[in-house]
Amino acid sequence: MARCFYLSFGSFPCVVASSPETAKEFVKTHETSFSNRPSTVAIRCLTYGAADFSFAPYGRYWMFMKKICMTELLGGRTLDHFLPVREEEMETFLKGTLRKSQANEAVDVGQELTALANNIISRTTISRRCSATSEEASEMRTLVDEVGGLSGKFNFQDYIWFCKNVDIQGIFKEHEEARNKNCDSSMRSKDLVNILLDIVKDEKAEMRLSRESIEAFILEMFTTGTGTSAGVTQWALAELINHPDILNKAREETDSTTGNKRLVKESDLPNLHFLQAIVKKTLRLHPSGPLFTRESTQHCKIGGYDIPASTRLIVNVWSIGRDPNYWENPMDFVPTRFINGSGRSQIDVRGRHYELLPFGSGRRSCPWTSLALRCFDWKVANGKENSVDMTEAAGIALLMAQPLVCVPVARDIPFLTI
Ligand code: HEM
Repeated sequence: MARCFYLSFGSFPCVVASSPETAKEFVKTHETSFSNRPSTVAIRCLTYGAADFSFAPYGRYWMFMKKICMTELLGGRTLDHFLPVREEEMETFLKGTLRKSQANEAVDVGQELTALANNIISRTTISRRCSATSEEASEMRTLVDEVGGLSGKFNFQDYIWFCKNVDIQGIFKEHEEARNKNCDSSMRSKDLVNILLDIVKDEKAEMRLSRESIEAFILEMFTTGTGTSAGVTQWALAELINHPDILNKAREETDSTTGNKRLVKESDLPNLHFLQAIVKKTLRLHPSGPLFTRESTQHCKIGGYDIPASTRLIVNVWSIGRDPNYWENPMDFVPTRFINGSGRSQIDVRGRHYELLPFGSGRRSCPWTSLALRCFDWKVANGKENSVDMTEAAGIALLMAQPLVCVPVARDIPFLTI
């Protein structure tokens, strides 16, 4: 079998799949054997003893949560409901950047993007902003960087930050008090805590959710959602600063869609094929989850090898995305390779093309598989003449070794005022 090797982590047997064929063999052909995720003592402590969703063993509880995720929490109706929140937060982010641009001030791009992602997730989840001030954003960024290097689970850092700033039990108490005062459900804020409390109170629900599992799930939204989205956006911006020709082409595409009269909207995205190709290209070279892990529940034979039950599997998404057998000149940033003759992409990121697995694959793939380039030029403040150092930091979260610090230079954007 191509590129598969065995490691022993103390007493834990572990196999590493680092080619598309091998990854497919494990996560598709032998999906039923590899549907669990390994759990460590740290993860059990942080996830209320695996009461969350990502680390729950494959079984009735996980299936129930997956269904809720796809229909209620991350489903189209809920996403539509929160569109104004995403638009408002994006506008706040752009206005903040315009202020810095007018003051000729440098911006720590990673910090600002982390704050943006956190504010969107916290308003969606608990109807409250968590990174309202730049001090909070900076404090969070420091924690993200410090703990990210030490952690064995990507985005572990967000748990720490979130636990520090937000009293999760207090939030549940507030929500429950508000619900008791106001029995009319149509008057309640439709945030994720209230959606989950509705399910907890639903006598007819096929499974009773414990308070612990919804607390763990809410924490998980922050854990899984913040660093991943902010990280990919930061890498994309860095690539575009290093490739001004690609940035100009992306701007031409967005300008022709918006007529240079308004901000890009989410509803424009299906028509922005070149922008989509840039995102895919970034996810190929800089996946936020460079390794994803599973654990086998039963003995199986793969590629002639006996794989015992409880073997850990690491899929090396990072090396698969750079495999020269699948990607010509794999290190080049060429988005057009994702676009066919009709201007559409021929490869998607939903886990069906094993040479590109940024969101994993199969039943345990990321349930979230569904950028400020138009408005500003970015002058790199901590690098050589407009060139970003693309070195990766040590650790599992695939952060940039040097933070991306830029002075935003506003372009012609009459539709954005402070
Ligand atoms: C660029 C953004 C993101 C990337 C690259 C990413 C990547 C991944 C990867 C590689 C996995 C493991 C897949 C597997 O085992 O096959 C995963 C799982 C997961 N992700 Fe994401 N993710 C992103 C954003 C998000 C967001 C925004 C959320 C929610 C707010 C989220 C929630 C989850 C959850 C709950 C799981 C566990 C699913 C399960 O075990 O069944 N992710 N993600």
